[in-house]
Amino acid sequence: MRASRYEIAMYGSMVGVPLLMFMIMLAMYLSSPYAYTLLPALLIVALGAFAVTGAKEIYLHSAYPGSRNRMVKGIEEHSSAHPRSTKGEPVTIAIKRFNAQSREFDRISYRYYATKLTTVLGALIDIKSYQDNTLSMRYNCRMGICGSCSMVVNGKPVLACETNLMNVAEAGNGIVEVSPMLGHPLKKDIAPDLTEFFAKHKSVEPTLYREKAAEKYQVKAAIPQTKDEVDKYLPYSYCLMCGLCLDACPVVNSNPNFVGPQALSQVYRYHKDSRDQKGKRRLFDVDSAEGVWGCEFSGSCSKACPKGVDPAAAIQMLKGSLMQSITEDDKVL
Ligand code: SF4
Ligand code: FES
Repeated sequence: MRASRYEIAMYGSMVGVPLLMFMIMLAMYLSSPYAYTLLPALLIVALGAFAVTGAKEIYLHSAYPGSRNRMVKGIEEHSSAHPRSTKGEPVTIAIKRFNAQSREFDRISYRYYATKLTTVLGALIDIKSYQDNTLSMRYNCRMGICGSCSMVVNGKPVLACETNLMNVAEAGNGIVEVSPMLGHPLKKDIAPDLTEFFAKHKSVEPTLYREKAAEKYQVKAAIPQTKDEVDKYLPYSYCLMCGLCLDACPVVNSNPNFVGPQALSQVYRYHKDSRDQKGKRRLFDVDSAEGVWGCEFSGSCSKACPKGVDPAAAIQMLKGSLMQSITEDDKVL
């Protein structure tokens, strides 16, 4: 078992302090017998340092009693070590962890004591802090804004920071199964690699397009919009880029080049923004099998979205707009 830093500090001080004392005593005695009178003061300082280190160690082990639990794969050997959580309800959190070396998954269970307000993300952070610091996950804001903590809990794609642990534990008979999103490459444990996802988002130019370059970078005056104009795109602007819709999409697995529901919902969002001047070019950019025509309208993306964005509807409306624009062009011809 690896020694903790507190063990190293304590045992180090037990050997190091007397040794240091002895060397100082010897040096002082050899240089000046009068300096020998300082020894009691030095002794008090050294004993004080030793007592503080020991007291800190005792406090830490009484406050975090499980902090020395050993990790054995596949067994519920982890007891909760967080002082607040020992008062709550016991929950087993089984985490499907991706091993980047073996490219396989390990299922490791942790015993955790939850209160009514504990979120899945809060429990995972506690587990990482007090039971097993090898656990890796993505998170940031802890309040449903950044979109970083997306994962699958009891088979359902969720934002972990918005998911109440007790609710999912009750639904799972005291067991909470946590696994990573499998529609994205994985880095480690439950942390996905969203590089491709962000690249797909960027590929559809998800920014307002203005004809004049000067307006693009230095808008001189606000461009007013009516409420109706805002309502057309507002629901699609709530996208957090959490990646859950792409994870839920069955097409992405068979057609990895499909740009996906998140990016397409953003095409619709900017196409419907009255300030955007890209017009039909936005539509033609996704007029392909990797664009809107790749969608088979399973609707799972919209069900997975934690923010109520409806990518499936956006894609069907893009298809409709494309059909309409082709018909209009035919008339002109
Ligand atoms: S559309 Fe919804 S599910 Fe998809 S990335 Fe945006 S917030 Fe997440
Ligand atoms: S941590 Fe930001 S959305 Fe969950």
